Amino acid sequence: MKQFQIQVAQAGGPEVLEYVEADIPTPGEGQVLVQVAAAGLNFIETYQRSGVYEVDYPFTPGTEFSGTVTELGPGVKHLKVGDRVATAEATRSYSQYAVVDAELLGKVPDSIDLRLAGALPLQGCTAHYLTHSSYMVRSKDVILTYAGAGGVGLLLTQMLKLMGATVITTASTQEKKDLAKAAGADYVVDYDQVPQTVKDVTGGAGVNAVYDGIGKDTFEMSLNALKRRGTLVLFGGASGQVPPFDLQRLNAGGSLTVTRPNLADFMTTPQERGWRLGDVFGWVAEGKIDVRIAAEYPLAEAGEAHRALEARETTGKVLLIP
Ligand SMILES: NC(=O)c1ccc[n+]([C@@H]2O[C@H](COP(=O)([O-])OP(=O)(O)OC[C@H]3O[C@@H](n4cnc5c(N)ncnc54)[C@H](OP(=O)(O)O)[C@@H]3O)[C@@H](O)[C@H]2O)c1
Repeated sequence: MKQFQIQVAQAGGPEVLEYVEADIPTPGEGQVLVQVAAAGLNFIETYQRSGVYEVDYPFTPGTEFSGTVTELGPGVKHLKVGDRVATAEATRSYSQYAVVDAELLGKVPDSIDLRLAGALPLQGCTAHYLTHSSYMVRSKDVILTYAGAGGVGLLLTQMLKLMGATVITTASTQEKKDLAKAAGADYVVDYDQVPQTVKDVTGGAGVNAVYDGIGKDTFEMSLNALKRRGTLVLFGGASGQVPPFDLQRLNAGGSLTVTRPNLADFMTTPQERGWRLGDVFGWVAEGKIDVRIAAEYPLAEAGEAHRALEARETTGKVLLIP
């Protein structure tokens, strides 16, 4: 049986994402075959496509998706054909059908539409572990983050507000600023206004923590924004990777902490995965968190979706529909 999927023969720009015919894979021990309803687009796939992260070729990207189980491999007990599922931890989900380890899937609550479910697991669980585990946010913390209208940014701001923090964020256009504000951010400013805003909001003390997914362009500004013993959570490099730096910088800045976390290290057991997916889907089902799906591209146009994400043209979530 055949399907269509995206394949990359060698690292390069968005044009290397080719829509090709391929075999539908067979689920092995503990795996299921899922018909993909929506594959979420995430920055990691641009790093993999362009060669920033090493992958084996031919490579089919795709980490996050939602869909319906169509076939069970041997030994799968807790899922059945027809179940609606989603995950942040798949491989090769830029496909019409994807094989995935059953234990990596969460069931989608009946009240959540399958496409919406495809928009949530990766960016939702990322915002969850950033705020609940990587640096544990306390009520009354002042937090700086960037790209407040981005996929992670909109969810992160809403979670920070649920936890009682004051949120300073950035956005590069007025439309993006309006979205970040609507998500609850207290201060939404241009990137070059960050130092003054932090000074004004904290009376010169600095923020408790910075969540920085921009990387190269903002790293220094993030360190400078921290209060004594503050924490910088560097979780991405949308502007490029941060070059090596002198650890004495942390001493001089006031016993600062820097961490560079990765979602995979915060989804290590069924309990941890269930906690994060359960909270994220639960908050959406209860209306505590709003998910913005700003664009849906046919899977065949994955290259155009990558180009738009890297060109800062997107807001919220971008989905690929097979
Ligand atoms: N470590 C983890 O576990 C983990 C998991 C998920 C995502 N991430 C990281 O989280 C970050 C955000 O991911 P996302 O998928 O939600 O993307 P996104 O925020 O929707 O898009 C990136 C945004 O970054 C801002 N930006 C600033 N400088 C940029 C530049 N030079 N090039 C491109 N964008 C720039 C843009 O917003 P403005 O135009 O408003 O500045 C852009 O829209 C990425 O760095 C990603 O790698 C990390």
